[in-house]
Amino acid sequence: MSPEERKANGPLFNTLRDRVTEAIAARKTELQTEALNARLASERIDVTLPVRPEPQGTIHPVSQVLDEVTAIFADLGFAVAEGPDIEFDDYNFTKLNIPPDHPARQMHDTFYVAKQGDGSRHVLRTHTSPVQVRTMLKQKPPIRIISPGRAYRVDSDATHSPMFHQYEGLVIDESASLANLKWVLEEFYKAFFEVAQVELRARPSYFPFTEPSVEWDLRCDRSVPGRIVFGQGNDWLELAGSGMVHPRVLEMCGIDSGRYQGFAFGGGLDRLAMLKYGIPDIRPFFESDLRWLRHFGFAALDVPTLDGGLSR
Ligand code: PHE
Repeated sequence: MSPEERKANGPLFNTLRDRVTEAIAARKTELQTEALNARLASERIDVTLPVRPEPQGTIHPVSQVLDEVTAIFADLGFAVAEGPDIEFDDYNFTKLNIPPDHPARQMHDTFYVAKQGDGSRHVLRTHTSPVQVRTMLKQKPPIRIISPGRAYRVDSDATHSPMFHQYEGLVIDESASLANLKWVLEEFYKAFFEVAQVELRARPSYFPFTEPSVEWDLRCDRSVPGRIVFGQGNDWLELAGSGMVHPRVLEMCGIDSGRYQGFAFGGGLDRLAMLKYGIPDIRPFFESDLRWLRHFGFAALDVPTLDGGLSR
């Protein structure tokens, strides 16, 4: 443009530029407001809603009973020991004084694992007793442990499951006796069944790894169908196998049987759960039916303690 044309058109162009700038700014503000409103709408919080939804999960009765048993024995000074589910044949049987071809092996309906290259065989442990062996092999007396865990036998009906749970107890020192064992079991059952008194009856029994061997029955009242009360009544319920650890077992596990002695005991955790919480059949324990779990399960945050109440 010539200088004259520029003079005449300059203000026009300036006005135009100002209008375009203004329009862009206005549209920008509009878009920002829109974006802010959309965000406010999407992030809106109803402060009247509860902070957290109700917990949906429950603690399985076996886990609950395992925690209860552990709490009681911890209070009696027992440590918790564990072992693997797939166990050496040697620990499950031989070191428990059940040598190969011993007829007592037939008391256990064993799941065998395929032979290793060297011909040795593992088993799914048929009881928690191999944890006794593992503990004695690596720890010197005094020993005071319980060992809750899974066990496996080829067995299945309303009161037997091919996979079930046991707890094992082992005490080794210079003077541990059957009398001590009876006291420990009495204290345990009183605390577990949450009653003031219990009465135990001893029956002679046989386990290859204990000598003498004793099975214990608990006095109970089953006169009302579908209900059991412990500590009273005229009925007896078999609850635990036990005995003084066989000197041969001590020796095979590297413990001087001239100096040390001890007792062991064991029973079923699922069975304890069924008795305490009135569950008639063991099979649904492992069927993961949500209705069953909601009915028999426990609140997730109620950790059992002796002074806080085991099952409350
Ligand atoms: N292990 C035995 C069983 O499963 C129970 C038991 C444990 C017996 C400890 C004596 C000592 O039948």
